[in-house]
Amino acid sequence: MKVLATHNIKGGVGKTSTAVNLAYLAARSGLRALVWDLDPQGAATFYFRVRPKKGGGRRIIQGKENLQRLIVGTDFEGLDLLRAHFSYRNMDLALDRTKHPAAQLRRLLAPLADDYDCIILDCPPGISLAAESVFFASHALLVPTIPTTLSLRALAQLSRHIEKRSRVHTRILPFFCMVDLRKSMHRHICEHTNRSHGFLETRIPYSSIIEQMGVYRAPVSTYASGTPADRAYRALLHEVDERIGLQLP
Ligand SMILES: Nc1ncnc2c1ncn2[C@@H]1O[C@H](COP(=O)(O)OP(=O)(O)OP(=O)(O)O)[C@@H](O)[C@H]1O
Ligand SMILES: [Mg+2]
Repeated sequence: MKVLATHNIKGGVGKTSTAVNLAYLAARSGLRALVWDLDPQGAATFYFRVRPKKGGGRRIIQGKENLQRLIVGTDFEGLDLLRAHFSYRNMDLALDRTKHPAAQLRRLLAPLADDYDCIILDCPPGISLAAESVFFASHALLVPTIPTTLSLRALAQLSRHIEKRSRVHTRILPFFCMVDLRKSMHRHICEHTNRSHGFLETRIPYSSIIEQMGVYRAPVSTYASGTPADRAYRALLHEVDERIGLQLP
């Protein structure tokens, strides 16, 4: 089982869109996939046409519920969901009352190892205690990065922070997202920030087709197969597979 997290200190950068599309494509390729919507906003849950929950998040995070029993199916074969709870807004408090907060999410996910090939944690923005627990639980952090100066700065902050954590072994996999090559800043940053900075080659273009996920409430491939946006997410999945071995069939 590989655990990926879509994570960024910054909000509104494409974390949830990435989590939903990659999980769908992984399941389509034959992997058993699970998305855990850790964001109280519940956007991934919304995209999968599932109702989020209000309370109960604290008990889940503290390991007082059987996680397997909370998993629901989606409209897509091989793709399951742990829905968002609005009470995840207090996740830091819930974690803080556990014995080892940083190790808690990893502990919760361990029993799912035989059930799934790929688990994607869709994270809220920020770099709180909950993020620490995500870093500890994940094999890789997928970091959607808009090609702007401030986004690169946030990525550098994240990298420095993780480098200092000797017990965190997650790999940071940044990639450019919402790329609009008509903008000179996007062109410049994409050209000059290449693989030497650890960036994946795949770029997710700025695309109204991706925005339409909110209208269709579905992954891009289901309503816009073969478009540049769809192809970009497919390429991203394959590149992630190459880097961390998802073992796509
Ligand atoms: N490549 C893209 N091109 C155009 N719009 C995009 C793209 N990726 C995401 N969006 C849109 O931008 C908004 C934010 O995307 P998304 O919800 O994936 O970001 P997020 O990082 O998960 O946000 P949050 O921090 O609030 O959780 C959404 O309206 C989404 O449809
Ligand atoms: Mg999100």
